[in-house]
Amino acid sequence: MELLKGKIKKEGIVLSENVLKVDSFINHQMDPILMKEIGKEFANRFRNENITKVLTIESSGIAPAIMTGLELEVPVIFARKRKSLTLTSDLYTSTVYSYTKKETNEITVSQKYILEGDNVLIIDDFLANGQAAIGLAEIVEKAKAKVSGIGILIEKSFQPGAEDIISKGYRLESLARIKSLHNEDVQFVD
Ligand code: G4P
Repeated sequence: MELLKGKIKKEGIVLSENVLKVDSFINHQMDPILMKEIGKEFANRFRNENITKVLTIESSGIAPAIMTGLELEVPVIFARKRKSLTLTSDLYTSTVYSYTKKETNEITVSQKYILEGDNVLIIDDFLANGQAAIGLAEIVEKAKAKVSGIGILIEKSFQPGAEDIISKGYRLESLARIKSLHNEDVQFVD
């Protein structure tokens, strides 16, 4: 998606060989016009999958997920990383280890919101090692629903997540695919 790639080129800051900072439009300040276009793009790419729910994980996945849900006119659910005061029983859970942050999160979704027969589109901002997306897919499968696709804003193609997701048979659509962050420069996959 050229709009997103242009924004990354202009405003992204390469922090290391592995980490790209996009705080000015995704992870802290958010660009609603870009998010609206991202929602349209995912909706177009997954239009034929008869999506019934969009699933993401807090917090940075929520903005693109809600815009996608708006376009597809389906509900949007976000998995929680922290325990909720009111969500205490009948939960689907999955354990997600972050190699980047070196921490483990138990992610949860209420059993009320993903139902057998749902066609679920998973959306997230970054794909690095794929643990968040795979954890979300596990939750969908525990609910006997279908993972109809995984939509990612920024895939770091030099990390193993994308290959892992594809090898598990899921349809992956990434809007910007980064080949390398060498020499403080963002190189996209062609
Ligand atoms: P994985 O899910 O693909 O295995 O990714 P990983 O554990 O490595 O990532 C953990 C967190 O770090 C995620 O955010 C992910 O979005 C973020 N992340 C990974 N690589 C990058 C990067 O290059 N740049 C930025 N800006 N973020 C990256 P999170 O902890 O869920 O945070 P948030 O959604 O609450 O913002």
